[in-house]
Amino acid sequence: MDVELRGLTKRFGPVVANDNVNLHIRAGEVLGLLGENGAGKSTMMNMLSGLYTPDEGEILIDGKPVKFEGPGDGIAAGIGMVHQHFMLVPVMTVAENVVLGVEPTGKFGYLDIKKARRQVEEINEKYRLHVPPDELIEELPVGIQQRVEILKVLFRSADVLILDEPTAVLTPQEVREFFGIVDTLKKAGKAIVFITHKLHEVLEISDRISVLRQGRITGEGDPKTLTESDLAEMMVGRPVSFTTAKGDAKPGRTMLELHDVTMLDENDDKVLDRVSMTVRSGEVVGVAGVQGNGQTELVEAITGLERVASGKIDFDGTDITYARVRERHKMGMAHIPEDRHKSGMVDSFSVAENMVLNNYYAPEYSKGWAIDWPKVHETAAKYCVEFDVRTPSVFLPGGALSGGNQQKMVVARELERQTKLVIASQPTRGVDVGSIEYIHERLIASRDEGDGVLIVSSELDEIMGLSDRIYVMYDGRIVAEFDNTGGKADRNAVGLAMAGSFEGEAA
Ligand SMILES: Nc1ncnc2c1ncn2[C@@H]1O[C@H](COP(=O)(O)OP(=O)(O)OP(=O)(O)O)[C@@H](O)[C@H]1O
Ligand SMILES: [Mg+2]
Repeated sequence: MDVELRGLTKRFGPVVANDNVNLHIRAGEVLGLLGENGAGKSTMMNMLSGLYTPDEGEILIDGKPVKFEGPGDGIAAGIGMVHQHFMLVPVMTVAENVVLGVEPTGKFGYLDIKKARRQVEEINEKYRLHVPPDELIEELPVGIQQRVEILKVLFRSADVLILDEPTAVLTPQEVREFFGIVDTLKKAGKAIVFITHKLHEVLEISDRISVLRQGRITGEGDPKTLTESDLAEMMVGRPVSFTTAKGDAKPGRTMLELHDVTMLDENDDKVLDRVSMTVRSGEVVGVAGVQGNGQTELVEAITGLERVASGKIDFDGTDITYARVRERHKMGMAHIPEDRHKSGMVDSFSVAENMVLNNYYAPEYSKGWAIDWPKVHETAAKYCVEFDVRTPSVFLPGGALSGGNQQKMVVARELERQTKLVIASQPTRGVDVGSIEYIHERLIASRDEGDGVLIVSSELDEIMGLSDRIYVMYDGRIVAEFDNTGGKADRNAVGLAMAGSFEGEAA
């Protein structure tokens, strides 16, 4: 199947999200789509899949113009989209999720679950997805949930698969497996549009690359000849530095100290096992590890989102083991959460409200008994400029921002506040290369102003580039500690510890 977008334009109020876009998508090919946060990638693909109606222009399938009234029309024409945020029902099984809305029915109009399961198995087999049909979605790791989304569009006979930042939440191992699946799909003659902010990925898997800037296609290229630096410059319009300049740390007093912290899950299994660590003021401490080895729980323990079973947590000399989230926040703890939708923002609140979500009661925003809204709006507008949050106004709902801009909004709120300790979990998830550069600079600036900074990231480059000291987590424990002054930690040794096959100094 051959798809052509011709002169597509889409406006949201004053924002021109797509401006006269032309694009060709061919069977048996992976088209990599790059662009800054808010450049219009998701919008363009939402038009192609039928979710949005273009204001101008047309879509041609095998040369014939088509008109989609909704995603149902898109999928009927063979175009399936896997969205930036998953849309699965957690309490239903894989098979139930896959057939939802197109249930095969038996003689009397009942759902024929056996037939559905069989079809799911067939697709599973054909594209080597290895998805367990009877498991509940909520029981599965994100990497598998992702494949369920793919299975879902394949079940609906899609020939064009649009994958919007599918690798953002995957571990490196899951990314490898995912690329294997993409390859199988390509060989089966599917056309694939792949959106990512990870430039090495797009170079590896794409046959062609298109770059979008401020709603327009500004560049096309061949992944065989382009470099990551070329791509970054094409996206952002200036050279981007992939390394953060920083001096040596000047560690001061202990800001955060964990003593033998243990946390249990609902089955009483240890998700944190006697974790002890310190973060001093004026240093960046990185926590490396393969996702799912206790990093999420570590952050929940520190920020107060979950209770610990035993052990002690001190924040700047005060015992906070059982302190509430808001108390910790008031004491000067900033938290960039790993999942902005779960614990970082409210979609229906305005950008301004989101910017003061956990701080609206601060003296600087109060006027007598009431909130000083003009002040809030003014401050929010300033933060948007600082962090390059692209929005036409601070009155827009936070949920209307592009994915990366939502992330920048949350990061801005947490880093602009006066704090003593910054807990940053996956701080640059979904953020474009230019803004990653800025967020990294700001984290180092927090350090140099005397904050303790703890960074948890599944991007080893991010950990290696920013941290003065590195802990490695494996199976709920700290298994190694590395001094990274002047970048001296051995990347291979860190990688080995992450795989659980090496025990370093702090084990
Ligand atoms: N439903 C909406 N209402 C208002 N504005 C919107 C809506 N959807 C998108 N926009 C605006 O359109 C522009 C393009 O957004 P889009 O989501 O397409 O960007 P993107 O390239 O996918 O960015 P990211 O890399 O951050 O995901 C942004 O300025 C965004 O705020
Ligand atoms: Mg997007």
